[in-house]
Amino acid sequence: MKIFRSIPETKNFVGALKNNRASIGFVPTMGALHPGHISLIERAKRENDVVGCSIFVNPIQFNNKEDLEKYPRTFDEDAEKLINAGCDFIFNPGNNEMYPKPATEQYDFGQLDKVMEGAHRPGHFNGVAVVVRKLFDIMNPTRAYFGMKDYQQLCIVTAMTKNLKLAVQIVPCPTIRETDGLAMSSRNVRLSREARQIAPEIYRILHDAKQKHSLMSPFELENWAKNEFSKFEEFTVEYFEIVDSKSLQSFGNWSDVESAIACTAVFLGGVRLIDNLIVY
Ligand code: PAF
Repeated sequence: MKIFRSIPETKNFVGALKNNRASIGFVPTMGALHPGHISLIERAKRENDVVGCSIFVNPIQFNNKEDLEKYPRTFDEDAEKLINAGCDFIFNPGNNEMYPKPATEQYDFGQLDKVMEGAHRPGHFNGVAVVVRKLFDIMNPTRAYFGMKDYQQLCIVTAMTKNLKLAVQIVPCPTIRETDGLAMSSRNVRLSREARQIAPEIYRILHDAKQKHSLMSPFELENWAKNEFSKFEEFTVEYFEIVDSKSLQSFGNWSDVESAIACTAVFLGGVRLIDNLIVY
């Protein structure tokens, strides 16, 4: 497996592959890889001739300095996991390589980034869009793989790709869960033993909300879920929202939308966790 740190080297390598008509599957990551990431690599491997993974902790998508500092950095373990999964190359740039000058691009996603993660993490999705756009330019992928755990991110990247008419297929991939239902996340390693025991309640509440949806209105169901979280003093709910799975906007009646998704962000022992579940 090749490891590149510079943009020109990576572009040369990818350019030669493309000249040979190879399809490239791309998995963008910030490292601290877990089985969720590896499932993306494996899928990319099945669907493309060559698979590349980027590992870059993108500073401009963190709106909280402490979160950026505490983000786990485990390059050697990550590289080992990628070799085992059959990844062909890694792009692992430093900050100066990616941002020799401060990024100034501003993206307009309409209402898509005004809710949920976008509302609670100002600038986050602009930072994601800037780095993903740059990474697409460098990796020139045929297909790019994004997990549905970051559902709003997936919607933003899909919208950006469509707006800019980029020649890459965005492939949404299901959330990978621990056997007790907790969505896999690089942040899970920061949970204390006690917090880790309670963490599966997030998926349990999402799952029960899905089961109950026909018994109450979307608004009542949101309140039911928040009340369930309040039974555990360890949780602080930032949001629990039931939204249209396309526009990500709230709605009044189930019949108003074709498909709905419940999305939540909670703090548990100082760690911020997000998860979601398609309601129907
Ligand atoms: O989902 C992530 O890990 C990041 O937001 C991404 C897509 C790699 C951009 O930094």
